[in-house]
Amino acid sequence: MCMNEVIKTILERRSVRKFSGKPIEREKIELILRAGMSAPSARNRQPWKFFAVDDRDLLNRLADELPYAKMLYQAPLGIIVCGDIRDKEDMTAQTFWVQDCSAAVENILIAVQSLGLGAVWTACYPKDDRVRAPQKILNIPDGIVPLCVIPVGYPDGDTPPVEKFREENIIWNKFEG
Ligand SMILES: Cc1cc2nc3c(=O)[nH]c(=O)nc-3n(C[C@H](O)[C@H](O)[C@H](O)COP(=O)(O)O)c2cc1C
Repeated sequence: MCMNEVIKTILERRSVRKFSGKPIEREKIELILRAGMSAPSARNRQPWKFFAVDDRDLLNRLADELPYAKMLYQAPLGIIVCGDIRDKEDMTAQTFWVQDCSAAVENILIAVQSLGLGAVWTACYPKDDRVRAPQKILNIPDGIVPLCVIPVGYPDGDTPPVEKFREENIIWNKFEG
């Protein structure tokens, strides 16, 4: 009754880990990045940088060094969402960058789904080695911290929606032991 396209996209989103070789249209990539940057952030600091990597050699090198992002060997695009915490005086960004960037990541995943593409959040921060690998390969300075690498592409095969609704995870008003 109240169902609409946005809710449908959110409910149908799944992690996609297999990609066809089809390249992604530039217009779609720009829309996805725009969706990421539309996320809320604490005091609207927007403490983020988005690396859009479509160079095959760089994607392969990232896949070589990131144990849980091997999908980058097939994906035509990797988006690396980073916290920009170079300003040590900005306590808002220093404190909330993970939440800010996570909101951007979810926006990206939903935008990807809505455009008929697929993607998966692969973690970097807070694992030191997974933060350092993209920093080294993409020349990212120390104060710009990779939160995750998101391989993106046209899905190879179906990843059907799953029901994750759990009544027991909702507390109406007070917790009753
Ligand atoms: C913080 C975080 C880290 C994740 N890291 C990885 C990862 O390194 N590799 C991977 O394949 N999936 C990773 N995922 C994706 C989860 O495995 C996936 O979202 C979960 O299994 C639920 O499946 P769904 O996204 O299809 O609903 C991560 C998700 C989150 C939120």
